[in-house]
Amino acid sequence: MPAGLEKACHRCISKIASNACFIFGLLAFLVLPLSMTFTGMKFLEDCPVQPLIPLYLLVGGVIGSLKVTLLLYDSTRMRQLLSKSVVIDDDDDDEYPWRQNAHKSGYESASKHFDPADLEVDVAGRSFLITGSNSGIGKAAAKEIARRGGTVHLVCRNKERAEDAKGEIVTETGNQNIFLHIVDISNPKEIWKFAEKFKTEHKLNVLINNAGCMVNNRELTENGLEKNFATNTLGTYVLTTALLPLLEKEADARVITVSSGGMLVQKLNISDLQSGSGTFDGTMVYAQNKRQQVVLTEQWAKTHRSIHFSVMHPGWADTPAVRSSMPDFYQKMKNSLRTEAQGADTVVWLAVSSEAAKLPSGLFFQDRQPVPTHLPLARTHSPPGDEEKLMEMLEELSQKFKSISPGSPQCC
Ligand SMILES: NC(=O)c1ccc[n+]([C@@H]2O[C@H](COP(=O)([O-])OP(=O)(O)OC[C@H]3O[C@@H](n4cnc5c(N)ncnc54)[C@H](OP(=O)(O)O)[C@@H]3O)[C@@H](O)[C@H]2O)c1
Repeated sequence: MPAGLEKACHRCISKIASNACFIFGLLAFLVLPLSMTFTGMKFLEDCPVQPLIPLYLLVGGVIGSLKVTLLLYDSTRMRQLLSKSVVIDDDDDDEYPWRQNAHKSGYESASKHFDPADLEVDVAGRSFLITGSNSGIGKAAAKEIARRGGTVHLVCRNKERAEDAKGEIVTETGNQNIFLHIVDISNPKEIWKFAEKFKTEHKLNVLINNAGCMVNNRELTENGLEKNFATNTLGTYVLTTALLPLLEKEADARVITVSSGGMLVQKLNISDLQSGSGTFDGTMVYAQNKRQQVVLTEQWAKTHRSIHFSVMHPGWADTPAVRSSMPDFYQKMKNSLRTEAQGADTVVWLAVSSEAAKLPSGLFFQDRQPVPTHLPLARTHSPPGDEEKLMEMLEELSQKFKSISPGSPQCC
């Protein structure tokens, strides 16, 4: 168990224990005069404090109720700590060491153990496709790969922003092999179409599923899909599925998906993939999608042995997505966020280093290290059947968009 969490649990346990002792003591004091009164014992009749007994019972009752409330509060908190369902606040960071590691300081201390030789590689002749590469982590990763000579396909939804990014990457790296493709990753029809064309024109060694979003209200895409799910989960599924045959043709093919440590608070939920019921909480929907990306990676690793799959947490980095989707979090954290390049470091390492490919396929990484996909004692493990069912559901849904022609009815 992480040290901070252990400390928080111990604090809870000692409060629960001291309140429980107090309540037992108090009960003993209250039970004595009560039982004497009700059993007709005369012992108290001559006692000088006898008139004060009702007051004594009243005060004891109030203090007892207060202590019981505190006991219940601490028991609930203890349960929340163990299940990680506590609403995460920056002030709680001592209880969440994995969150502290996600800060800039976490990167700085982890990077002391990085081997610089891992990234001293020439990837000329290898082809990389990065979604959402016009800004943030995706653009930073694209630059690093371009610097090492790789051919980079930028897949972005906005032509103007994408062209600016391409210009910046070419100017800064001197690499002319940077290509632009305009695709909306929340639109499965567009993805299928793009992938079909891409397969006939290019080769692909490494796919980086980086595009992601956190939409805080329930909004639908033009195909009637919930936007977070469409971008983070279904988009990742369709693009990867469509490009697997191309990747399978290459040696040392890799697929890297940029997930988030936020997924640790979620157990896979396949009962409502598009969050159509209950209260919509964008942060939790995003975390659920990011959990789904981890499951996708694990499942692909089992079924496609010739490709190396990995999924990762970039830490908390100062990017447009964080500023716009989580303004309160950004205000509190802005001085301790990682740079975009620091957030992209593990993506680049997974994409280009030979060390990464030596590790088993299907793992979750933070700062160049495989890390667990569940927190200790958190009840986030799902039955294996659910993981396979998720793949079946995504396959079924994605196929609907493969065959849909313009003008066909919208899906779900
Ligand atoms: N920054 C962090 O602290 C952090 C932490 C954990 C995980 N992540 C993950 O890191 C990844 C990159 O995010 P970022 O922080 O670097 O934010 P960012 O700079 O805003 O990058 C997100 C990228 O995804 C693109 N995108 C979003 N929806 C898209 C769609 N439907 N089609 C095509 N592209 C789309 C955005 O394009 P536009 O510019 O057109 O919007 C942008 O290029 C995301 O998957 C995010 O969930 C980030």
